[in-house]
Amino acid sequence: MNDLIVLLLSGPNLNLLGDRDPLIYGSDTLTHHVSEATIAAEERGLVIEHVQSNHEGELVDAIHSARGRCVGIIINPGAFTHYAWAIHDALAAFDGPIVEVHLSNPAAREPWRHTSVVAPVAAGTVAGFGGIGYRMAVRAVAELLEG
Ligand code: DQA
Repeated sequence: MNDLIVLLLSGPNLNLLGDRDPLIYGSDTLTHHVSEATIAAEERGLVIEHVQSNHEGELVDAIHSARGRCVGIIINPGAFTHYAWAIHDALAAFDGPIVEVHLSNPAAREPWRHTSVVAPVAAGTVAGFGGIGYRMAVRAVAELLEG
């Protein structure tokens, strides 16, 4: 049987997690969050494929590469959340559940973070729960896939 791959995408500056604004984003590294997501996925028969990029086009390419190959997408687009319409459009062309995840709660932060251009093409958003959000996002994708 083919692996049921969920693409986990991490946007700009998330490679600095652990070091970057720990009071807002916590002190765990991105590697830690990815391994938590991987364990949660394995428990549900899913495989996580992770891509982090600081470049919008690379994230768009990764979303395209998921078409017809991955069963779902979990995305923390970082600051691209708030203005990257090319990521919105790429996600709109993906056939499968999409879950947006944020460590912080952008709605409780600066006004420019209150808009998400990803939210309209996501099944839902997990925000404000720190690293737990990655496990919650995996669970959401798994349950959406089970219908
Ligand atoms: C973030 C929230 C964004 O507003 C910010 O630009 C990030 C991280 C989060 O996970 O809380 O880079 O996506």
